[in-house]
Amino acid sequence: MATIGIMDSGVGGLSVFREIRKLLPGEHFIYYSDNAHCPYGEKTPEYIRARLDEITTLFLSRGADAMVLACNTATAAGVEYLRGKYSIPFIGMEPAVKPAALGTESKVIGVLATAGTLKGSKYLNTKGRFEDQVTIVEQVGKGFVELVEKGLLTGPEAEAVVTESLEPLLDAGADRIVLGCTHYPFLLDTLRKVAAELGRPEVQFIDPAPAVATRLIQVMEQAGIPKEDKHPQTELLSSGDKAALLRTFSLI
Ligand code: DGL
Repeated sequence: MATIGIMDSGVGGLSVFREIRKLLPGEHFIYYSDNAHCPYGEKTPEYIRARLDEITTLFLSRGADAMVLACNTATAAGVEYLRGKYSIPFIGMEPAVKPAALGTESKVIGVLATAGTLKGSKYLNTKGRFEDQVTIVEQVGKGFVELVEKGLLTGPEAEAVVTESLEPLLDAGADRIVLGCTHYPFLLDTLRKVAAELGRPEVQFIDPAPAVATRLIQVMEQAGIPKEDKHPQTELLSSGDKAALLRTFSLI
């Protein structure tokens, strides 16, 4: 049985865990919500790397064979750093710019992510590969992480917050919106509702989580990490209060 550590600044990474569990139903998972330090979005890369050191050390002490950074911001700040320092495989988030660029009919794609992700070299390199084919417009999902941590996934407050960041992307003509933060898929119903109310029901939202789950399997196979389907086990850990983690876990 493999032990897989999955981390995020909060509950967002559960949107990735949901996909991982579909493909790997029998492993030992340790999910860590770093909610005492959430949000990561505006923190410095140095701060986030220090958090990643602490979380990686914890996972290793519990026998992790691989670790998933189910957080775009942490991936931007630290996946290369971790790969240079520790010997287990690290799987990070990939901004889903490619499927958006291949699918768009309007030739405009929107990216919703945190400030840290939008500044990171991983995202900037990916963007650079597609910029001559499509127009890429970006918005920080301002207040989105806080909504999801509070469990406010639908309703008037969620709709008002979502409208503020989504509307400029739709106004720019985007017909594909990349969800570049793992918290955002929990707001999908509200994102779809707001898009429809703004007269754009055809807009598609793209979540990279299924691709990350597939990548984890490839990496495990390459590293010779055995899979098993008999004794599934999930441990939920958090650096702060656990209520949000338990509530969101019950939704996946
Ligand atoms: N869920 C995270 C991400 O994918 C972090 C959001 C935050 O803490 O600001 O970027």
